[in-house]
Amino acid sequence: MNFSFPKDFLWGAACSSFQIEGAWQEDGKGISCHDKYARIPAHQDLYRYGGPDDGADFYHHYREDIDIMVEHGLKSFRFSIAWPRIFPDGPDKINQPGIDFYRDMFSYANEKGLNLLIDLYHWDLPQWVLDRGGVASREFITWFEDYARVCFENFGDQVQYWSTTNEPSVSVFGGYIGGDLKSVGRFPPFECDKVKAFAACHNMNIAHMRAVKLYRRMGLKGKIGAVIDAVPCYPYSISSKKDWEAGERAFDFYAGKWLGPMLLGKYPESMTACFHEDMPENYAEELTREYEPIDFIGNNYYEPHYAEYIPEKPYFKAAADPEIGEAREREEFVGMKPYPVGLYDIMLLLEEKYHPKEIIITENGMSVKRDETNISKPSNIHDENRIRYMRAHIMMLARVLKLGINITGYHVWAVEDTYERTSGYRHDYGLIGIDYDTKERIPRDSLKWYSEFIQANT
Ligand code: FCB
Repeated sequence: MNFSFPKDFLWGAACSSFQIEGAWQEDGKGISCHDKYARIPAHQDLYRYGGPDDGADFYHHYREDIDIMVEHGLKSFRFSIAWPRIFPDGPDKINQPGIDFYRDMFSYANEKGLNLLIDLYHWDLPQWVLDRGGVASREFITWFEDYARVCFENFGDQVQYWSTTNEPSVSVFGGYIGGDLKSVGRFPPFECDKVKAFAACHNMNIAHMRAVKLYRRMGLKGKIGAVIDAVPCYPYSISSKKDWEAGERAFDFYAGKWLGPMLLGKYPESMTACFHEDMPENYAEELTREYEPIDFIGNNYYEPHYAEYIPEKPYFKAAADPEIGEAREREEFVGMKPYPVGLYDIMLLLEEKYHPKEIIITENGMSVKRDETNISKPSNIHDENRIRYMRAHIMMLARVLKLGINITGYHVWAVEDTYERTSGYRHDYGLIGIDYDTKERIPRDSLKWYSEFIQANT
Protein backbone atom coordinates (compact mmCIF):
# COMPACT_ATOMS: atom_id res chain seq x y z
CA MET A 1 0.00 0.00 0.00
CA ASN A 2 1.37 3.35 -0.92
CA PHE A 3 0.59 6.52 0.99
CA SER A 4 2.09 9.76 -0.16
CA PHE A 5 2.07 13.39 0.87
CA PRO A 6 2.06 16.42 -1.41
CA LYS A 7 5.58 17.78 -1.83
CA ASP A 8 4.61 21.23 -0.65
CA PHE A 9 2.75 19.99 2.44
CA LEU A 10 3.25 22.30 5.43
CA TRP A 11 4.92 20.09 8.01
CA GLY A 12 5.24 22.27 11.05
CA ALA A 13 4.88 22.90 14.74
CA ALA A 14 2.90 25.37 16.82
CA CYS A 15 3.14 27.54 19.93
CA SER A 16 1.44 30.69 21.15
CA SER A 17 2.81 33.98 22.42
CA PHE A 18 1.98 33.83 26.13
CA GLN A 19 2.92 30.17 26.38
CA ILE A 20 6.59 30.65 25.42
CA GLU A 21 7.54 34.30 25.05
CA GLY A 22 8.18 35.24 28.68
CA ALA A 23 9.25 38.92 28.93
CA TRP A 24 5.83 39.58 30.38
CA GLN A 25 6.63 43.14 31.38
CA GLU A 26 9.30 44.05 28.89
CA ASP A 27 9.37 46.75 26.24
CA GLY A 28 6.03 48.23 27.13
CA LYS A 29 3.94 45.05 27.07
CA GLY A 30 0.62 45.37 28.92
CA ILE A 31 -0.95 42.85 31.25
CA SER A 32 -2.82 39.91 29.77
CA CYS A 33 -5.73 38.22 31.51
CA HIS A 34 -3.46 35.37 32.62
CA ASP A 35 -0.87 37.76 34.06
CA LYS A 36 -3.65 39.16 36.18
CA TYR A 37 -5.67 36.11 37.22
CA ALA A 38 -2.60 34.02 38.05
CA ARG A 39 -1.96 36.56 40.82
CA ILE A 40 -5.42 36.42 42.37
CA PRO A 41 -5.61 33.95 45.29
CA ALA A 42 -9.25 33.09 44.55
CA HIS A 43 -8.20 31.67 41.19
CA GLN A 44 -5.45 29.44 42.45
CA ASP A 45 -7.42 26.30 41.65
CA LEU A 46 -6.69 26.99 37.98
CA TYR A 47 -3.45 28.91 38.26
CA ARG A 48 -1.83 27.07 41.14
CA TYR A 49 1.48 26.81 39.28
CA GLY A 50 1.76 30.49 38.53
CA GLY A 51 1.52 32.72 35.48
CA PRO A 52 3.39 32.87 32.19
CA ASP A 53 6.02 35.35 33.34
CA ASP A 54 9.24 33.99 32.05
CA GLY A 55 9.11 30.45 30.63
CA ALA A 56 11.06 29.46 27.56
CA ASP A 57 11.91 33.13 26.97
CA PHE A 58 11.29 32.88 23.23
CA TYR A 59 11.26 36.68 23.25
CA HIS A 60 15.04 36.65 23.60
CA HIS A 61 15.71 33.26 21.99
CA TYR A 62 13.61 33.33 18.84
CA ARG A 63 16.57 33.23 16.47
CA GLU A 64 17.90 30.10 18.11
CA ASP A 65 14.48 28.47 18.07
CA ILE A 66 13.80 29.34 14.45
CA ASP A 67 17.25 27.99 13.56
CA ILE A 68 16.48 24.68 15.26
CA MET A 69 13.15 24.41 13.41
CA VAL A 70 14.76 25.17 10.07
CA GLU A 71 17.76 22.88 10.63
CA HIS A 72 15.31 20.07 11.26
CA GLY A 73 13.50 20.76 8.02
CA LEU A 74 10.24 22.17 9.43
CA LYS A 75 8.31 24.09 6.80
CA SER A 76 5.76 25.93 8.89
CA PHE A 77 5.63 27.73 12.22
CA ARG A 78 2.28 28.50 13.80
CA PHE A 79 2.46 31.24 16.39
CA SER A 80 0.38 34.14 17.72
CA ILE A 81 0.74 37.84 18.36
CA ALA A 82 0.33 39.01 21.95
CA TRP A 83 -2.39 41.64 21.69
CA PRO A 84 -1.17 43.24 24.99
CA ARG A 85 2.24 43.87 23.37
CA ILE A 86 0.60 45.85 20.59
CA PHE A 87 -2.12 47.63 22.59
CA PRO A 88 -0.88 47.54 26.21
CA ASP A 89 -3.36 49.76 28.05
CA GLY A 90 -6.35 50.51 25.87
CA PRO A 91 -7.56 50.82 22.29
CA ASP A 92 -5.83 54.14 21.58
CA LYS A 93 -2.10 53.77 22.07
CA ILE A 94 0.12 51.46 20.01
CA ASN A 95 3.33 50.13 21.54
CA GLN A 96 6.04 50.45 18.88
CA PRO A 97 8.54 48.05 20.53
CA GLY A 98 5.86 45.35 20.38
CA ILE A 99 5.47 45.94 16.65
CA ASP A 100 9.26 45.88 16.23
CA PHE A 101 9.58 42.56 18.02
CA TYR A 102 7.15 40.74 15.71
CA ARG A 103 8.44 42.51 12.62
CA ASP A 104 12.01 41.35 13.43
CA MET A 105 10.98 37.85 14.36
CA PHE A 106 8.80 37.37 11.27
CA SER A 107 11.49 38.78 9.06
CA TYR A 108 13.98 36.26 10.48
CA ALA A 109 11.51 33.43 9.81
CA ASN A 110 10.92 34.77 6.27
CA GLU A 111 14.65 34.87 5.57
CA LYS A 112 14.90 31.22 6.58
CA GLY A 113 11.99 30.28 4.34
CA LEU A 114 9.62 29.25 7.14
CA ASN A 115 5.90 29.54 6.39
CA LEU A 116 4.10 31.61 9.06
CA LEU A 117 0.60 30.84 10.30
CA ILE A 118 -0.22 33.57 12.81
CA ASP A 119 -3.16 33.85 15.22
CA LEU A 120 -4.35 37.31 16.14
CA TYR A 121 -5.86 36.09 19.38
CA HIS A 122 -4.64 32.90 21.01
CA TRP A 123 -5.97 33.24 24.56
CA ASP A 124 -3.96 36.18 25.97
CA LEU A 125 -6.62 38.87 25.96
CA PRO A 126 -5.32 42.23 27.19
CA GLN A 127 -6.65 42.81 30.68
CA TRP A 128 -7.99 46.21 29.58
CA VAL A 129 -10.38 44.41 27.22
CA LEU A 130 -11.83 42.50 30.17
CA ASP A 131 -11.93 45.63 32.32
CA ARG A 132 -14.08 47.31 29.68
CA GLY A 133 -16.58 44.49 29.33
CA GLY A 134 -14.62 41.75 27.55
CA VAL A 135 -15.71 39.84 24.47
CA ALA A 136 -19.30 40.05 25.72
CA SER A 137 -19.26 43.80 25.02
CA ARG A 138 -20.25 45.01 21.53
CA GLU A 139 -17.24 47.30 21.61
CA PHE A 140 -15.06 44.23 21.39
CA ILE A 141 -15.81 44.12 17.65
CA THR A 142 -14.24 47.55 17.11
CA TRP A 143 -11.25 46.86 19.36
CA PHE A 144 -10.58 43.63 17.52
CA GLU A 145 -10.93 45.21 14.10
CA ASP A 146 -8.53 48.02 15.04
CA TYR A 147 -6.02 45.52 16.40
CA ALA A 148 -6.34 43.39 13.25
CA ARG A 149 -5.77 46.48 11.10
CA VAL A 150 -2.53 47.33 12.91
CA CYS A 151 -1.33 43.74 12.53
CA PHE A 152 -2.20 43.57 8.82
CA GLU A 153 -0.57 46.95 8.17
CA ASN A 154 2.63 46.01 9.93
CA PHE A 155 2.99 42.30 9.21
CA GLY A 156 0.70 41.76 6.23
CA ASP A 157 3.65 41.37 3.86
CA GLN A 158 5.36 38.82 6.14
CA VAL A 159 2.61 36.37 7.08
CA GLN A 160 1.29 33.71 4.69
CA TYR A 161 -1.65 32.45 6.78
CA TRP A 162 -3.67 34.42 9.35
CA SER A 163 -6.07 33.04 11.90
CA THR A 164 -8.37 35.38 13.78
CA THR A 165 -8.87 33.25 16.90
CA ASN A 166 -7.87 29.98 18.55
CA GLU A 167 -10.34 27.57 20.17
CA PRO A 168 -12.95 30.18 21.12
CA SER A 169 -15.09 27.51 22.79
CA VAL A 170 -12.48 27.55 25.54
CA SER A 171 -11.39 31.17 25.61
CA VAL A 172 -14.51 33.10 24.58
CA PHE A 173 -17.62 31.07 25.40
CA GLY A 174 -15.79 29.30 28.24
CA GLY A 175 -15.04 32.60 29.98
CA TYR A 176 -18.70 33.19 30.74
CA ILE A 177 -20.16 29.78 31.49
CA GLY A 178 -19.06 26.24 32.35
CA GLY A 179 -19.48 23.25 30.02
CA ASP A 180 -22.75 22.24 31.71
CA LEU A 181 -24.16 25.74 31.01
CA LYS A 182 -24.75 26.16 34.74
CA SER A 183 -21.41 26.49 36.44
CA VAL A 184 -18.77 29.22 36.36
CA GLY A 185 -16.61 29.48 33.23
CA ARG A 186 -13.10 28.03 33.33
CA PHE A 187 -11.42 30.96 31.63
CA PRO A 188 -11.07 34.69 32.49
CA PRO A 189 -13.31 36.51 33.41
CA PHE A 190 -14.72 33.37 35.15
CA GLU A 191 -18.36 34.41 34.98
CA CYS A 192 -21.54 32.40 35.11
CA ASP A 193 -23.86 34.07 32.65
CA LYS A 194 -25.33 32.17 29.73
CA VAL A 195 -26.61 35.28 27.96
CA LYS A 196 -23.17 36.87 28.09
CA ALA A 197 -21.63 33.63 26.83
CA PHE A 198 -23.84 33.72 23.73
CA ALA A 199 -23.22 37.44 23.28
CA ALA A 200 -19.46 36.84 23.43
CA CYS A 201 -19.80 34.00 20.93
CA HIS A 202 -21.71 36.19 18.50
CA ASN A 203 -19.36 39.16 18.96
CA MET A 204 -16.35 36.93 18.28
CA ASN A 205 -17.96 35.64 15.09
CA ILE A 206 -18.74 39.16 13.89
CA ALA A 207 -15.29 40.46 14.88
CA HIS A 208 -13.78 37.56 12.95
CA MET A 209 -15.79 38.46 9.84
CA ARG A 210 -14.86 42.12 10.06
CA ALA A 211 -11.18 41.16 10.23
CA VAL A 212 -11.52 38.85 7.24
CA LYS A 213 -13.25 41.60 5.23
CA LEU A 214 -10.65 44.13 6.22
CA TYR A 215 -7.86 41.79 5.17
CA ARG A 216 -9.43 41.37 1.73
CA ARG A 217 -10.02 45.12 1.37
CA MET A 218 -6.36 45.73 2.09
CA GLY A 219 -5.48 43.52 -0.88
CA LEU A 220 -2.94 41.43 1.03
CA LYS A 221 -1.62 38.29 -0.58
CA GLY A 222 -1.94 35.65 2.15
CA LYS A 223 -4.88 33.57 3.31
CA ILE A 224 -7.13 34.09 6.28
CA GLY A 225 -9.17 31.72 8.43
CA ALA A 226 -9.62 30.67 12.05
CA VAL A 227 -8.57 27.84 14.37
CA ILE A 228 -11.23 25.69 16.04
CA ASP A 229 -11.03 22.55 18.15
CA ALA A 230 -13.65 20.48 16.38
CA VAL A 231 -13.46 16.85 17.48
CA PRO A 232 -15.79 13.95 16.79
CA CYS A 233 -18.48 13.48 19.38
CA TYR A 234 -19.19 9.74 19.57
CA PRO A 235 -22.27 8.19 21.13
CA TYR A 236 -21.71 6.80 24.60
CA SER A 237 -23.61 3.70 23.61
CA ILE A 238 -23.42 2.74 19.93
CA SER A 239 -26.71 0.84 20.25
CA SER A 240 -28.61 3.95 21.23
CA LYS A 241 -30.01 6.01 18.38
CA LYS A 242 -30.60 8.81 20.87
CA ASP A 243 -26.94 8.82 21.86
CA TRP A 244 -25.93 9.12 18.19
CA GLU A 245 -28.28 12.09 17.83
CA ALA A 246 -27.04 13.61 21.08
CA GLY A 247 -23.50 13.30 19.65
CA GLU A 248 -24.50 15.27 16.59
CA ARG A 249 -26.14 17.97 18.63
CA ALA A 250 -23.21 18.16 20.99
CA PHE A 251 -20.88 18.56 17.99
CA ASP A 252 -23.10 21.28 16.51
CA PHE A 253 -23.12 23.06 19.78
CA TYR A 254 -19.44 22.82 20.69
CA ALA A 255 -17.84 23.36 17.28
CA GLY A 256 -20.78 24.39 15.08
CA LYS A 257 -21.30 27.72 16.81
CA TRP A 258 -18.06 28.81 15.10
CA LEU A 259 -17.92 26.57 12.04
CA GLY A 260 -21.50 27.38 11.05
CA PRO A 261 -21.08 31.17 11.02
CA MET A 262 -17.55 31.12 9.62
CA LEU A 263 -18.11 28.58 6.85
CA LEU A 264 -21.82 28.79 6.07
CA GLY A 265 -22.95 32.13 7.46
CA LYS A 266 -25.43 30.65 9.95
CA TYR A 267 -25.65 28.98 13.34
CA PRO A 268 -26.56 25.27 13.38
CA GLU A 269 -30.30 24.75 13.49
CA SER A 270 -30.14 22.32 16.39
CA MET A 271 -28.38 25.01 18.38
CA THR A 272 -30.70 27.91 17.64
CA ALA A 273 -33.73 25.68 18.20
CA CYS A 274 -32.61 25.22 21.78
CA PHE A 275 -30.88 28.52 22.60
CA HIS A 276 -32.76 31.10 20.56
CA GLU A 277 -33.91 32.86 23.75
CA ASP A 278 -30.36 33.22 25.03
CA MET A 279 -28.92 34.60 21.81
CA PRO A 280 -28.50 38.33 21.14
CA GLU A 281 -31.23 40.11 19.23
CA ASN A 282 -31.21 39.79 15.44
CA TYR A 283 -28.25 37.44 15.48
CA ALA A 284 -29.33 35.62 12.32
CA GLU A 285 -29.86 38.80 10.26
CA GLU A 286 -26.60 40.25 11.43
CA LEU A 287 -24.73 37.10 10.52
CA THR A 288 -26.23 37.04 7.05
CA ARG A 289 -25.29 40.68 6.56
CA GLU A 290 -21.75 40.36 7.88
CA TYR A 291 -20.89 36.93 6.49
CA GLU A 292 -17.53 36.70 4.80
CA PRO A 293 -16.17 33.30 3.78
CA ILE A 294 -12.71 32.16 4.87
CA ASP A 295 -9.82 30.70 2.89
CA PHE A 296 -9.04 27.84 5.24
CA ILE A 297 -10.05 26.34 8.54
CA GLY A 298 -7.44 25.35 11.10
CA ASN A 299 -8.35 22.49 13.38
CA ASN A 300 -6.75 21.32 16.63
CA TYR A 301 -7.17 17.67 17.49
CA TYR A 302 -6.26 15.89 20.71
CA GLU A 303 -9.08 13.57 21.76
CA PRO A 304 -12.74 12.93 21.00
CA HIS A 305 -15.82 13.76 23.06
CA TYR A 306 -18.64 11.38 23.97
CA ALA A 307 -22.32 12.19 24.20
CA GLU A 308 -25.11 10.54 26.02
CA TYR A 309 -28.78 11.36 25.61
CA ILE A 310 -30.07 12.83 28.84
CA PRO A 311 -33.63 14.14 28.40
CA GLU A 312 -33.18 17.25 30.52
CA LYS A 313 -29.92 18.29 28.90
CA PRO A 314 -29.84 16.92 25.41
CA TYR A 315 -26.75 18.88 24.43
CA PHE A 316 -23.98 18.02 26.74
CA LYS A 317 -21.24 15.59 26.19
CA ALA A 318 -20.88 12.86 28.76
CA ALA A 319 -17.72 13.12 30.80
CA ALA A 320 -17.41 9.38 30.89
CA ASP A 321 -15.26 7.35 28.57
CA PRO A 322 -17.27 4.36 27.32
CA GLU A 323 -14.24 2.10 27.29
CA ILE A 324 -13.92 2.26 31.02
CA GLY A 325 -17.50 3.27 31.79
CA GLU A 326 -16.58 6.19 34.00
CA ALA A 327 -14.87 9.56 33.92
CA ARG A 328 -11.14 9.19 33.51
CA GLU A 329 -8.97 10.46 36.32
CA ARG A 330 -6.94 13.19 34.75
CA GLU A 331 -5.36 16.49 35.37
CA GLU A 332 -6.35 19.06 32.87
CA PHE A 333 -4.14 19.29 29.79
CA VAL A 334 -2.43 16.05 30.56
CA GLY A 335 -3.57 12.54 30.12
CA MET A 336 -5.58 13.38 27.03
CA LYS A 337 -6.26 9.99 25.60
CA PRO A 338 -4.55 9.40 22.26
CA TYR A 339 -7.16 8.31 19.76
CA PRO A 340 -5.71 8.65 16.24
CA VAL A 341 -8.85 7.40 14.46
CA GLY A 342 -10.55 10.54 15.76
CA LEU A 343 -8.30 12.61 13.51
CA TYR A 344 -9.51 10.67 10.50
CA ASP A 345 -13.13 11.00 11.55
CA ILE A 346 -13.01 14.71 12.24
CA MET A 347 -11.47 15.46 8.84
CA LEU A 348 -14.28 13.48 7.20
CA LEU A 349 -16.87 15.24 9.30
CA LEU A 350 -15.55 18.70 8.49
CA GLU A 351 -15.54 17.87 4.80
CA GLU A 352 -19.01 16.41 4.87
CA LYS A 353 -20.71 19.12 6.93
CA TYR A 354 -18.82 22.26 6.00
CA HIS A 355 -16.88 21.68 2.74
CA PRO A 356 -13.97 23.99 3.66
CA LYS A 357 -11.76 25.06 0.76
CA GLU A 358 -8.67 24.08 2.69
CA ILE A 359 -8.01 22.45 6.07
CA ILE A 360 -4.84 22.79 8.13
CA ILE A 361 -4.21 20.68 11.19
CA THR A 362 -3.02 23.39 13.54
CA GLU A 363 -2.38 21.34 16.71
CA ASN A 364 -1.85 17.71 17.62
CA GLY A 365 0.45 16.49 20.33
CA MET A 366 0.99 14.94 23.74
CA SER A 367 2.56 15.91 27.01
CA VAL A 368 4.78 14.14 29.50
CA LYS A 369 5.02 15.11 33.14
CA ARG A 370 8.23 16.63 34.45
CA ASP A 371 10.12 15.16 37.36
CA GLU A 372 8.64 17.03 40.35
CA THR A 373 11.95 16.93 42.17
CA ASN A 374 13.79 18.60 39.31
CA ILE A 375 11.15 20.82 37.79
CA SER A 376 13.38 23.14 35.78
CA LYS A 377 14.81 20.27 33.72
CA PRO A 378 12.99 18.95 30.65
CA SER A 379 11.63 15.42 30.84
CA ASN A 380 11.68 12.61 28.39
CA ILE A 381 14.34 13.73 25.90
CA HIS A 382 14.30 10.23 24.39
CA ASP A 383 10.58 10.39 23.76
CA GLU A 384 9.73 7.14 22.01
CA ASN A 385 6.12 7.60 23.20
CA ARG A 386 5.78 10.90 21.31
CA ILE A 387 7.27 9.36 18.17
CA ARG A 388 4.65 6.60 18.34
CA TYR A 389 1.95 9.22 18.86
CA MET A 390 3.02 11.31 15.87
CA ARG A 391 3.46 8.28 13.66
CA ALA A 392 -0.05 7.04 14.42
CA HIS A 393 -1.65 10.42 13.73
CA ILE A 394 0.35 11.05 10.57
CA MET A 395 -0.76 7.64 9.26
CA MET A 396 -4.38 8.74 9.75
CA LEU A 397 -3.63 11.94 7.91
CA ALA A 398 -2.22 9.90 5.01
CA ARG A 399 -5.47 7.95 4.84
CA VAL A 400 -7.66 11.06 4.71
CA LEU A 401 -5.48 12.63 2.07
CA LYS A 402 -6.10 9.56 -0.05
CA LEU A 403 -9.80 10.42 -0.03
CA GLY A 404 -8.96 13.69 -1.73
CA ILE A 405 -9.72 16.03 1.18
CA ASN A 406 -7.68 19.19 0.79
CA ILE A 407 -5.53 19.18 3.92
CA THR A 408 -2.42 21.26 3.39
CA GLY A 409 -0.56 21.23 6.70
CA TYR A 410 0.05 19.48 10.02
CA HIS A 411 1.44 21.16 13.15
CA VAL A 412 2.69 19.41 16.23
CA TRP A 413 1.87 21.08 19.51
CA ALA A 414 4.39 22.21 20.51
CA VAL A 415 7.58 23.59 19.04
CA GLU A 416 9.04 23.68 22.55
CA ASP A 417 7.96 23.18 26.16
CA THR A 418 5.12 25.51 27.03
CA TYR A 419 3.31 27.19 29.88
CA GLU A 420 -0.14 25.65 30.30
CA ARG A 421 -2.68 27.49 32.45
CA THR A 422 -3.61 24.63 34.71
CA SER A 423 -0.27 22.92 35.02
CA GLY A 424 2.24 25.75 34.70
CA TYR A 425 5.53 24.31 33.46
CA ARG A 426 4.91 20.77 34.68
CA HIS A 427 3.91 19.10 31.46
CA ASP A 428 6.17 19.00 28.46
CA TYR A 429 4.66 19.15 25.00
CA GLY A 430 7.79 20.28 23.14
CA LEU A 431 9.69 18.82 20.24
CA ILE A 432 12.41 20.91 21.87
CA GLY A 433 12.95 20.53 25.63
CA ILE A 434 13.57 23.68 27.64
CA ASP A 435 15.75 23.93 30.71
CA TYR A 436 14.00 26.73 32.57
CA ASP A 437 17.11 27.61 34.66
CA THR A 438 19.64 27.95 31.88
CA LYS A 439 17.18 28.42 28.96
CA GLU A 440 19.10 25.75 27.13
CA ARG A 441 17.21 24.22 24.20
CA ILE A 442 17.46 20.42 23.91
CA PRO A 443 15.99 18.84 20.77
CA ARG A 444 14.05 15.70 21.67
CA ASP A 445 14.28 12.45 19.71
CA SER A 446 10.80 13.17 18.32
CA LEU A 447 12.18 16.26 16.56
CA LYS A 448 14.93 14.19 14.96
CA TRP A 449 12.39 11.58 13.92
CA TYR A 450 10.09 14.30 12.48
CA SER A 451 13.03 15.78 10.62
CA GLU A 452 13.86 12.49 8.90
CA PHE A 453 10.21 11.94 8.11
CA ILE A 454 9.85 15.40 6.55
CA GLN A 455 13.00 14.95 4.51
CA ALA A 456 11.75 11.67 3.15
CA ASN A 457 8.38 13.15 2.25
CA THR A 458 9.13 16.46 0.58
C1 FCB B 1 -4.91 23.61 23.14
C2 FCB B 1 -4.47 25.07 23.09
C3 FCB B 1 -2.97 25.23 23.20
C4 FCB B 1 -2.37 24.30 24.22
C5 FCB B 1 -2.83 22.88 23.99
C6 FCB B 1 -2.25 21.86 24.95
O1 FCB B 1 -6.24 23.53 23.53
O2 FCB B 1 -4.89 25.68 21.89
O3 FCB B 1 -2.69 26.58 23.48
O4 FCB B 1 -2.63 24.75 25.49
O5 FCB B 1 -4.22 22.82 24.06
